[in-house]
Amino acid sequence: VTVRIGILGLGTVGTGTVQILQDPAGRHPLLAQMQVDRVGVKSIDRPRAVSFPDGVMTTDLESIVNDPQIDVIVEVMGGIEPARTLILQAIAKGKHIVTANKAVIARHGKEIFTAANQAGVYVLLEAAVGGGIPVIQPLKQSLGVNKINRVAGIINGTTNYILTEMTQAGGEFADILADAQALGYAEADPTADVDGLDAGDKIAILAALAFGGRIDRDAVSCEGIRKISAADIAYAEKLNFSIKLLGIAEQTAAGVSVRVHPTLVPKSHPLASVNGVNNAILVAGDPLGEVMLYGPGAGAGATAASVVADLVAIAATIGCQQPQLNPLLSCPHADYQTLVPLSSLKGRFYVRFVSRNVSGTIGQIGSCFGDRGVSIESIVQIGMQGDRAEIVVVTYETTEGDFRQALDTIANLSAIDSIPSILRVI
Ligand SMILES: NC(=O)c1ccc[n+]([C@@H]2O[C@H](COP(=O)([O-])OP(=O)(O)OC[C@H]3O[C@@H](n4cnc5c(N)ncnc54)[C@H](OP(=O)(O)O)[C@@H]3O)[C@@H](O)[C@H]2O)c1
Repeated sequence: VTVRIGILGLGTVGTGTVQILQDPAGRHPLLAQMQVDRVGVKSIDRPRAVSFPDGVMTTDLESIVNDPQIDVIVEVMGGIEPARTLILQAIAKGKHIVTANKAVIARHGKEIFTAANQAGVYVLLEAAVGGGIPVIQPLKQSLGVNKINRVAGIINGTTNYILTEMTQAGGEFADILADAQALGYAEADPTADVDGLDAGDKIAILAALAFGGRIDRDAVSCEGIRKISAADIAYAEKLNFSIKLLGIAEQTAAGVSVRVHPTLVPKSHPLASVNGVNNAILVAGDPLGEVMLYGPGAGAGATAASVVADLVAIAATIGCQQPQLNPLLSCPHADYQTLVPLSSLKGRFYVRFVSRNVSGTIGQIGSCFGDRGVSIESIVQIGMQGDRAEIVVVTYETTEGDFRQALDTIANLSAIDSIPSILRVI
């Protein structure tokens, strides 16, 4: 059986995908059955690293999704529109979808998967989270026999690169971001990455798979890394933590929580040593314990390998007698999960105070936390600039309410000048 493929987009991931498909030797034998029929792009005259017979490339993407010969559409153009409309059109024409587009899936998953289930086609998205790291299919299949209670991951390479550079080379966020942009590790418009929105899309997808219910993307709280300063990185290091941007989905006493925020991770934690553009996803479940999936979270080849893996999974179903969709590949859930707000979670906090040099300030801070029942793991005064000192506190687990009330009291102490940063600790 020949599996006929239409590809929307021939940029980084699209080109990598074609390179694998055009060089099948030594890879999975099903690659030999795949044929790229059509490729859609925006600028037909742009030089390309791969070539095709005449007539394969087009700027008419609708003609690809409507082509009756094509079995599978690979959507690697990115963005919400026209990707969403083209995916829905292809599904309506009975075509399977492979996509790397986390934004469209996290925001429009409901209509896309509902349409796919009705049409009897698959929408696979291994490349959308963690680039080359297999995590979507493992969550659907091998990890899915466990009761999963937490997924926590470094799922944005750009922010992990910036935080790693701030730690290892030193420097402020804005300077390191500019360097990352010059090196091609950050986009010209870095918003989706540095404000945690891309990680928010990805953790919403992982949470849906881990807990078996849809996630309202707008209910996922996202805080990025713009406010992380060199001072926080240095203090975290002194206290034996790394600062990482984590996407976290967990079952808590209060309910399911899905969120993205910068987090102090103890140096002994497996996520602390994931540096640079690498990604890692820690999955904790019962009776499994913890598994960490680690590897390249982006890049042409790695991401394309995930795209082609999905093509292989679909190719394996084509030509088989299958009255129903294979539940190991299709999306089985239909209901939304209720998420609990960050404010109702228990957690540990790191907070940095700038104080005037008044004796007894540390004692006063300690009493304010103590009065609210917030236990302190460490409290240190580091550095002195003129008449200003910086005091850093790391708490034990507490409720957000008690912590905020203690902070309100501390903010009113005459010795306290400002509270430049409050971070969560895993
Ligand atoms: N890059 C990565 O490492 C990576 C990793 C994981 C996931 N992803 C995801 O993969 C997807 C693709 O990313 P990418 O980095 O490969 O993007 P890219 O390099 O910017 O390529 C996008 C491609 O889509 C085409 N395109 C975009 N809008 C179009 C339109 N309206 N009509 C026709 N063609 C259009 C472009 O055509 P032209 O070439 O003519 O401009 C280009 O070939 C995104 O969803 C991204 O989030 C990327």
